[in-house]
Amino acid sequence: MKVVLGVSGGIAAYKACELLRLFTESGHEVRVVPTREALKFVGEPTWAALSGHPVTTDVWESVHEVPHVRIGQRADLVVVAPATANVLAKAAHGLADDLLTNTLLTARCPVVFAPAMHTEMWQHPATAANVATLRARGAIVIDPAVGRLTGADTGPGRLPDPAEIFQVCLRVLRGSPNDLAGRKVVVSAGGTREAIDPVRYIGNRSSGLQGYALARTAAARGAEVTLVAANVSLPDPAGAKVVRVESTADLREAVLAAAADADVVVMAAAVADFRPAARHDVKIKKTDGEPAPIELAKNPDILAELGERRRAARAAGTPHPRVIVGFAAETHDVLANGQAKLARKGCDLLVVNQVGENLAFGTPDNAATVLVAGGEPVEVPRGPKDDVADAVWNLVAPRLP
Ligand code: CTP
Repeated sequence: MKVVLGVSGGIAAYKACELLRLFTESGHEVRVVPTREALKFVGEPTWAALSGHPVTTDVWESVHEVPHVRIGQRADLVVVAPATANVLAKAAHGLADDLLTNTLLTARCPVVFAPAMHTEMWQHPATAANVATLRARGAIVIDPAVGRLTGADTGPGRLPDPAEIFQVCLRVLRGSPNDLAGRKVVVSAGGTREAIDPVRYIGNRSSGLQGYALARTAAARGAEVTLVAANVSLPDPAGAKVVRVESTADLREAVLAAAADADVVVMAAAVADFRPAARHDVKIKKTDGEPAPIELAKNPDILAELGERRRAARAAGTPHPRVIVGFAAETHDVLANGQAKLARKGCDLLVVNQVGENLAFGTPDNAATVLVAGGEPVEVPRGPKDDVADAVWNLVAPRLP
């Protein structure tokens, strides 16, 4: 595929080199179109060498080839990473004073912007309005990550991990729909841990891969995603706001807060059903004789609570999530257990996985049966967890009013 990589003048321009390599190494033909300011951060020879193509910044070079029209017209995808506040403003207003902005005006293919800038610039009403304009026109604008910025600043404004931007681009190139644009989506992922003492916990084997795939694919389909991650050590999906939690109590608080104004909630996290009734403040020492048993207390069922809150909100006429999706990991009687769980928890869809040795946990692939309240079950064939996630969104999107 023909990809145009626009690079504008921010310190994160160096990260675009990795994005470029990911495209070229997977067989895509990439034309890099930096702005003049971008070349102050990473020079022309680097872009030319990594892309294998000449690099120009303005429309007055190689005029006989009319590149300012051709580059955009021929592209299958334009991705601007990093996109500065300035380039977003120009794109939103249709200004064209260099090769990149000309390319953006001539492109008829999908356009992805990965903004990176200081928090104040990202949060400025002018930038927010420009981003809204671009999104309304169908562009994918990936929310910047939260974290360390240049110098001592921290906050939203970081360029997401290039590998994650690449994943969004691949999905867009494969024709991923933009059907969750403007929707607020909450996804829980990973597995909760319940402390026994300061060094030990009760936990489970969830890697978070399926939940992260759901967040990544929802962002690529245009959703505003809050990812509540319990003990996951994976890179943040591009575009998702990540809230890190440890215990079931933390997860419950974060999910219920984010669900208050969400359109969709997906509970992909493996939630510990029990916690030690008492947490020891100091490490339990090995003593002679038998170890003391650990007394357990029951944790709240967050999914069931989401269902109950929705029932109450519907009755009161207050806002509530339109679609609630649960997951169920079953080792036996998979469908019968799943149907009972769907009814008990009051969700709209239940994604049922068979788990056991080498099934689902920590593996890149998954297969599932999606049980539908008041409908027929849908089989999702074994495939990458991103594809399973897309199959779930394919069922969610038509249920949104
Ligand atoms: N879940 C939850 N809160 C809990 C337990 C589970 O919100 N305390 C959610 C999970 O995130 C998942 C769904 O409920 O979406 C089903 O989880 P599962 O562990 O399979 O169901 P349980 O109700 O715990 O049933 P069991 O373990 O008895 O099969």
